[in-house]
Amino acid sequence: MYLVFTMRNILEIENSVRNQTQSGDKSFHSWYQFVLGYPPHLVRYYMFKFGIRSTHLVLDPFCGTGTTNVECKKLNIDSLGLEANPVVYFASCIKTDWRTSPSEVRLAFREVISSTSSSLDKFNLSEDVSLFVQPKKGKPLLSEPSLTDDQQLVLPKDFISPTPLRRVLILKECIERVSDEQVRNLFLLALANLVVNHAGNVAFGPEVYSTKPKKDVYILDYFYRLVDKMVCDLESRPQVTAGAEIVHGDARRISDYFPNHFGKVDFVITSPPYPNEKDYTRTTRLESVVLGLISSKQSLRTLKEQLLRSNSRNIFVADNDQDYVKSFDSITKIAKEIEEKRIHLKKTSGFEKLYHKIVKHYFGGMYRHFESLRPLLSPDARIAYVVGDQMSFFRTHIPTAKILAEIAESIGYKVDEIELWRTRLATATKIQIDENVLILRKQPKDS
Ligand SMILES: C[S@@+](CC[C@H](N)C(=O)[O-])C[C@H]1O[C@@H](n2cnc3c(N)ncnc32)[C@H](O)[C@@H]1O
Repeated sequence: MYLVFTMRNILEIENSVRNQTQSGDKSFHSWYQFVLGYPPHLVRYYMFKFGIRSTHLVLDPFCGTGTTNVECKKLNIDSLGLEANPVVYFASCIKTDWRTSPSEVRLAFREVISSTSSSLDKFNLSEDVSLFVQPKKGKPLLSEPSLTDDQQLVLPKDFISPTPLRRVLILKECIERVSDEQVRNLFLLALANLVVNHAGNVAFGPEVYSTKPKKDVYILDYFYRLVDKMVCDLESRPQVTAGAEIVHGDARRISDYFPNHFGKVDFVITSPPYPNEKDYTRTTRLESVVLGLISSKQSLRTLKEQLLRSNSRNIFVADNDQDYVKSFDSITKIAKEIEEKRIHLKKTSGFEKLYHKIVKHYFGGMYRHFESLRPLLSPDARIAYVVGDQMSFFRTHIPTAKILAEIAESIGYKVDEIELWRTRLATATKIQIDENVLILRKQPKDS
């Protein structure tokens, strides 16, 4: 029986590990997770609190790696998800697609390993695979794959060393030969996990940073363990009928993507980006480039344009989201304070000059999102937004949940409460700041 956390259970989890996935929660979630994600028990907590049942429909408009959707599926609840970043969108889709046959995966795995192993031999990168597959000679690749010049331009050089990259690209090429799309995608997701957590030189704290370069690292044993875990999860998946429909797109226009669900979404559980000067595309850059989901500066820019404006790396001349929040004194005041501090501190870089604009565009983007979301919601819908306060711009305090509450009220939502989820150490100030959950309900237009 799947364990449903009570509120007391959740509060017993210490603040320092409250955002971590509990050991009993790894199945499907661990296929690919990222530092921006929240833990499955947070989703369960709100399901419990809201009384979500299998007749309900749940939406996550910033679904990231699909934590909400996977958790809904485990509990046999239909869900929708939307995500702008292609690699995490891909992960959400694969993690919620449980139709893949475990035996097909095992069969294809042997083929992939034997052709990868032969190719590695051919290019003088041999690895011993005899511990986990029967030695069998596969057909090697004709030529060694490499990144294009355009791909190299968007991949920070120190994120992966040349030899591990060669191994990874060979494995990827052999995966691409798998004819069954579901099985192929499962392997590609394992590869995304592998490059970040094993082959690359990256770590997260919470910003992505490069670690001591690994000159070389064998990859096939790690890949085997990842795929084996996926197969075990598929073999022991709960017998559920619920589906998850995940869409690639921009949450500022969310109603455009779900025309068949107007008035049908009962609950939203989500965590949008925060205005915090973190380049969200850098967090997932390594696997995005390796999987070919970002292939040039232009495709990186196209991705950034779809994201909420939360940092100075994704602000563009034509942006006008700020127009939606011109009348909000709280936002104007914070933006003014940031700009005045910049001038006082004599900070003149192009990025720093954008800080005050980020705040306005960010909240303007969230205004658009809340407005676009409303038609999708059922009359009694309740929604939970996990958002952190911020101090990234010259230590100016941004009470994110409070401002979002103000915006939402102006559009026709009722604020139920702002609940503290945990406190976090702000990187810039070393001060503990709040991460809250803003809980709203849809308010009838005339009330
Ligand atoms: C805090 S993360 C959500 C993580 C998710 N809860 C999980 O557990 O993986 C916020 C997500 O919003 C996405 N995002 C940013 N702007 C977006 C937009 N305009 N539309 C849709 N998704 C967006 C980011 O790519 C990121 O994956």
